[in-house]
This record gives sequence, C-alpha cells and structure tokens, in this order.
Amino acid sequence: MAQTHSKRILLGVTGGIAAYKAAELTRLLVKAGHTVQVVMTEAATHFVGPATFQALSGKPVLTKLWDGDSGMAHIDLSRDADVILIAPASANFIAKLAHGLADDLLSTLCLARACPLTVAPAMNKQMWDNPATQRNLAQLRQDGVALFDPASGAQACGEVGMGRMQEAETLLIELEALFQPKCLAGQRVLVTAGPTYEAIDPVRGITNLSSGKMGYAIARAAWEAGAEVVLISGPTALALPPHVRAIHITSAQEMQAAVLREIKPMSIFISVAAVADYRVAQTAKQKLKKTDTAPTLTLTPNPDILAQVAALPKPPFCVGFAAETEKLAAHAQAKRARKNIPLIVANRAQDALGQDESELILIDSHGAHDLPRAKKLVLARQVIAHISDLL
Ligand code: CTP
Repeated sequence: MAQTHSKRILLGVTGGIAAYKAAELTRLLVKAGHTVQVVMTEAATHFVGPATFQALSGKPVLTKLWDGDSGMAHIDLSRDADVILIAPASANFIAKLAHGLADDLLSTLCLARACPLTVAPAMNKQMWDNPATQRNLAQLRQDGVALFDPASGAQACGEVGMGRMQEAETLLIELEALFQPKCLAGQRVLVTAGPTYEAIDPVRGITNLSSGKMGYAIARAAWEAGAEVVLISGPTALALPPHVRAIHITSAQEMQAAVLREIKPMSIFISVAAVADYRVAQTAKQKLKKTDTAPTLTLTPNPDILAQVAALPKPPFCVGFAAETEKLAAHAQAKRARKNIPLIVANRAQDALGQDESELILIDSHGAHDLPRAKKLVLARQVIAHISDLL
C-alpha cells in the first residue's frame, strides 16, 4: 500500500531566476498536504524575498547559519525533514554539494543531513555544459543524490538550450514518487485512458464523458511504482505524467491499432479507457447539411480491445474497468468473466466521470475488495499495489 502521504519537505532555494518557480512549488507542496520549511541562500533572496516563501509555507524562512534558537539550525532542520529538495540549484551550489563545502546554512544542513537529498538544477546552458558542472553532477549521482534534470528551452538570458528548471508541477510529481514503494519495478505497463471519439462527419462525433483522470492517475501510479509505462490516450485536456510515453489517438479503431502495436513486450495491460462500443458505419466525408427529415445513423460495433488482448496466446496480466450506473458489483463481475480477465475495477459512473475523487470495488478470483472514496491518484496507487500483490 502507498505510504503516509504527507511529508516534511525542506526546500532549499539558491540564487537563480528560477527561484520564482520555487514559490509556485511551495504553494503546490502545501496544497498537496506537505509541510514545507524554506531555507534560502543569501543570493536567492536577491531574486525572491523571503516574505513570499514565508506567506506560502506559513513558516519563517531561514537564511543564516545562526538563525534559530539553538544555534544548531543546520542539525535541527535536517533531522526534521523527510527529504531535502534544492530548487533551483545553481551551478555554484551544485559545486559546493559535490565537494562537501559547508559555508552557509543550506550547504551545511545538506552536509549534516540524515534524509534523501534531491536537486533540481537551473542555470545558463553554457554553465550546464561546462565540464566542471557535468563532473559535479556525476559526483552527486554517484553519491546517491536524485537529480531532476533540467529541460531544454528558452532561457532568461536570451539563449536557448539545456538548463531550464523543471516546472513546479513536475517537481511535485517527481518528489512524491520518491516515497512510493517500487512494487512494479521491472514491469512494463500499457495503460489506455480517456474517451474515444467516433466521427459522424468532419465536425461531429459520438463520444462520452470520460475525462481520462483515472487512466492518467493509473499511468502515474504505475511509473511511481517503478514500471516502464506507455499510455494510449483518447482526447483529454490533461497534462501527461512525466516519464510516461504517450500515444494520442482519437477513435476506438486507432486505439486498437496502437494497443496491438505496443502490447508484445508488456507484462501488464490496464484498460481504463471508456471505449465507444459502436462507431458510425459510414463517416460522411463532408459536413452533413440540415434537412427536413431527421437523419438516421447506422452504427457498427467497435472491437473489444481488452477482450482481444486477454485472448492473445500469451496475454499480459489484464485489468479492466467497469463504470456502471446500477448493480455495480454484479455487472462488473459479469464483465470480468465475459472478458476473461483476472481483475476488474468497478466504479459508479455518476460519481466518477470527470470527478477528482471516486470509490472503487476491486473484483478478482478471491472476491470483492472495497476502496473507500478518495482522490483518484490515491485510489490509483491502491489499485497498483493490489495488482502487484496479485502478480
Ligand atoms: N473495453 C475495451 N474495448 C471496448 C469496450 C470496452 O477495451 N470496445 C474495455 C474498457 O476499457 C474497460 C472494460 O472493457 O476496461 C469494460 O468496458 P465497458 O464498456 O464498461 O464494457 P462493455 O463490455 O462494453 O459493457 P457495457 O458497455 O454493456 O457496460
């Protein structure tokens, strides 16, 4: 099962323009239920004032080695943290970490730490490419420090290249993943998510209310659990979880083709998508014009992708989802048998579609197991833990 959600995070902010992103990160961490203690270097305070971080974290910001009552702030702070995240980490601060220097509060508490250290570098691309920086980064990796590598893009200095700090949302996801048990390490997981869209003509179609939230949460939870994840997604408005390879499709037939292309090396298939059961038999090439008589749409069945994968000669471990409006357990149980899959996850369509929360029933050969109402990510982690137990 997922471990206690709320963590004590020591956020170290060093001097760089990306310090403004650390303010947003503080807000997101607090919103996600974590406790955040901000420690800034002197240089960082030239970019964003401590008052900003104090207001966002609800805690006084520490900057000097001699802050705090005991004169031992560096020891107290590192003992009170589950993890230290340096974001942004300047080239200079990375060099100090690599060499074990301790000449201010932040570098001293990093040296005195008894918890994991994570680092989100941010710097100009020349500084990033400099062999000295690369040497220091290699040293940190060797020392067991988790690096959240920067992205490539436009930089504050006007240049374009590697060195942009990861966005706050991504850092939150990376950080939370550190605390999840790696129960799917070595597994390859294929997830389908979202609705499919079956075109009637070039501007109209048949779809459903699936938002993709549960499927995306499952993909994220599988990656957090150490799996290599491919996500085949219908049209959604969601941000992709990091480290997940995404394939975007529109119709059920496109989803089927993508699944069959990707399925071979997969050990687990989690079919969360709300696949349209039918498509329009003949899609009009031009926009249909209004006439006096209402048109009749002839529908034809779509392939059942999950049943098809479950019927492969060497199927992966198959998990289905069943959104039902009534007789939840009975309908889900029947689907599990009909599709010949070891596990089906049932939810009430009215409560789940488009919502951030849901409640689930997991049905396998041992019986039914209720997961009470919670955020979809929390439920997704429980589903992943259950799959790992069954495997
Ligand atoms: N599914 C699929 N391909 C389809 C239809 C469904 O892979 N063409 C998968 C879904 O991703 C889900 C499971 O099958 O994991 C259950 O889908 P659902 O549509 O609820 O089941 P149906 O068999 O279509 O039953 P009904 O629509 O009658 O409820």
